Amino acid sequence: MDASRAESGESQQLETPVALNSLIQEVAKQQSVDLRSNDLSLELKLDPTLPEILAAIPQLERVIWNLLSNAIKFTPTNGKITVTTVTVDDRVSVKISDTGIGIAKDEMPLLFSEYGRLPGASSTEGSGLGLYIVKNLVKAHGGTVDVESELGKGTTFTLRFPVATRQQPQSKI
Ligand SMILES: Nc1ncnc2c1ncn2[C@@H]1O[C@H](COP(=O)(O)OP(=O)(O)O)[C@@H](O)[C@H]1O
Ligand SMILES: [Mg+2]
Repeated sequence: MDASRAESGESQQLETPVALNSLIQEVAKQQSVDLRSNDLSLELKLDPTLPEILAAIPQLERVIWNLLSNAIKFTPTNGKITVTTVTVDDRVSVKISDTGIGIAKDEMPLLFSEYGRLPGASSTEGSGLGLYIVKNLVKAHGGTVDVESELGKGTTFTLRFPVATRQQPQSKI
């Protein structure tokens, strides 16, 4: 994968119908060692009737990977991470929830910015680029990313993508 192109989402053909549930299971498998070494439990609540979305697979994997690795990094030992997929109208939604440190309201505006890291992240490693990349890639897929959080309680990131339809023109992103 060409990393810089992947980050911008530039010139990627959105032509592959992707089953998000299997992609999520694959990424979860990649992070099983980190989950175990941090004593975190992971629950996947995947809707078996979830329709496919049109996506560039490596980029979509990167989105899920970044959000899951953040959930792992910012959740103390014995916490829980839940990934939920569900269809709402003509959109597919993915929720990644953790029982971690949470994000203060006044720090939210910095969250998706380039190199943005919040004070609570100072004891962990990272560039602060992950969520910036997530935002750009999700946008390139015609999707949205939202966040809800309570300090000290946990955080939920919600992705929403348009369902692939037969009439949908193959867009170039
Ligand atoms: N699940 C989460 N819980 C609490 N804080 C988070 C979470 N995900 C991201 N953050 C905050 O947002 C910042 C930006 O995230 P990201 O761009 O992925 O950077 P990093 O390189 O630190 O992982 C993090 O440094 C952290 O302060
Ligand atoms: Mg990150």
